[in-house]
Amino acid sequence: MKLEQYLERRCALIDRTLQQLLADHEAPPKNLGKAMHYSLFSGGKRIRPILALASGEAVGARPQRILPFACALEMIHSYSLVHDDLPAMDDDDLRRGKPTNHVVFGEAMAILAGDGLLTEAFRIMAQAALKRGQDRTAALQAIWEVAAGAGMAGMVGGQVADIEAEHQKPTRKRVEYIHTRKTGALLRASVRVGARVGGASAKQYARLDRYGTAVGLAFQVTDDILDIEGGTAKTGKRVGRDAELNKATYPVALGMKKTKRYARELLDEALTALQAFSPKAEPLRQLARFVVERAVPSET
Ligand code: IPE
Ligand code: IPE
Ligand code: MG
Ligand code: MG
Ligand code: MG
Repeated sequence: MKLEQYLERRCALIDRTLQQLLADHEAPPKNLGKAMHYSLFSGGKRIRPILALASGEAVGARPQRILPFACALEMIHSYSLVHDDLPAMDDDDLRRGKPTNHVVFGEAMAILAGDGLLTEAFRIMAQAALKRGQDRTAALQAIWEVAAGAGMAGMVGGQVADIEAEHQKPTRKRVEYIHTRKTGALLRASVRVGARVGGASAKQYARLDRYGTAVGLAFQVTDDILDIEGGTAKTGKRVGRDAELNKATYPVALGMKKTKRYARELLDEALTALQAFSPKAEPLRQLARFVVERAVPSET
């Protein structure tokens, strides 16, 4: 399997489906629609929906069943970035190599575009749950996973801890608390959604959850590394912001060397969790490698 080609195809499928799902409802006011579209289609890697599809694939499910939930996850991710970049939060003006949402549309519209993306995600999932032939229990479980991962005890709670930690000592324990929530929780939920809708057995679900937990944390560990070493050309973001904002990050808590070692340990943990799976879990394996190796190449 060639990862690059796999990612390209998945991105195209997700883009197409997002367009369709947004078009099957009454159009929003013009400027709101533009602002939502701007952030949703601006070159995101689509890692969360791709993980959801790959997790379903690992238990033998066709992507079509998972797709609306996968798209909802991307919409929630997109909203989280629009809000994360706001002046009241990380105050960033560059995302994916382009001006951030509030720079283009103003703060009020950026806040509302985020609200629109978040709420629309739940409409889309509910619509999928209501579809004829849908396994309603699995769909409801998936909606629960998304709400729990994105909500007060997940991403939103993590974002609060992230901001409060700007004025606290960045201990390892604190950084782990923040990272597993602000970023890990939605990635973990993505893997769980694929498992739920894909009809995973209890054992498969537990293994996939172990994988999702490790990859979710690894994702923010590597994001921290890239904020120091990645450069704007690679990340599409203004780098060095974490230090400027006094963020609690792994490199601050552990030092760079140990942080990189930890990222590789999390990759090992993710791959170990998948040992019992057939070649159908190969996309998940390669995705975990991709997440870690973009910041910590295998020779280091
Ligand atoms: C960036 O997420 C924010 C974090 C949670 C670290 P991604 O790196 O997945 O962002 P895009 O969507 O691909 O730009
Ligand atoms: C973002 O963490 C987490 C969420 C958006 C929930 P960061 O603040 O580190 O993400 P970037 O670096 O701005 O993409
Ligand atoms: Mg942030
Ligand atoms: Mg940020
Ligand atoms: Mg960051």
